Amino acid sequence: MKNFLSLCIAAVICCGFLTSCTKKNGDDNANAKPFRMITEATFPPYEFLRGQEIVGIDVEISKAIAEKLGRPFKAETVDFDSVIPAVISGKADIGAAGITVTEDRKKNVDFSIPYVTTGIVIVYKKDAPFTKGEDCKGKKVAVQGGTTSDTYVVEQLGQEPDRYRSPAEAVAALQAGRCDLVIADIDPAKNCVKGVENLALSDFITSESYAVAIKKGQPELLKLIDETIAELQANGKLAQWVADYTAEADALKD
Ligand code: ARG
Repeated sequence: MKNFLSLCIAAVICCGFLTSCTKKNGDDNANAKPFRMITEATFPPYEFLRGQEIVGIDVEISKAIAEKLGRPFKAETVDFDSVIPAVISGKADIGAAGITVTEDRKKNVDFSIPYVTTGIVIVYKKDAPFTKGEDCKGKKVAVQGGTTSDTYVVEQLGQEPDRYRSPAEAVAALQAGRCDLVIADIDPAKNCVKGVENLALSDFITSESYAVAIKKGQPELLKLIDETIAELQANGKLAQWVADYTAEADALKD
């Protein structure tokens, strides 16, 4: 009888212990370290602000990756030239900011498979058009600092651009007569000129592709990210986000 009693007690304690373990695991998941995305949210439709909330195509892609990892999600916006440093230092788990894959950046971070093929264009005033890269030589060019447009001006045109914190600020400088033209990625550029009568865009002056960036040396995470992107391309979700967020960002201009 005494043995039976202690067996019962042991069973009860054991049960309680197991339940608390399961509970604890469940809680752990909810409290798991958030998957932190770093971006620069003046770049519609890839990332922009809906009120205080950072939304856009890159946010959806990063959220899908967080979900695969079973981790809560958190997004933060900083100046564009701080995005890659935040990935390198481990302050963020993923950089997703319409980041163009370049040989230089590849030395510092690992890139996923690309999720879009795109490029940069010239934004000009219709009464003073610039349609080719070489037309911009010697002109006062405005760009978002730290971008491939910035590098284009320095390396291809051999001059220094005026650097602004967003494509929209660069376009505002053009409208104010503080520069002759703007160079920017086509999608935010399109958003900037939407409904603006006196501005137009050139054809692409470069060909680039966007990918997400992570700290080097994480082959398993990179594999999971590549699989997620391939899945989002195959199931049409990515295309749907492109359509939805382009429409939402354009509507903000109305
Ligand atoms: N694609 C260009 C680059 O990588 C511009 C990206 C700017 N992105 C942003 N979220 N502001 O340099």
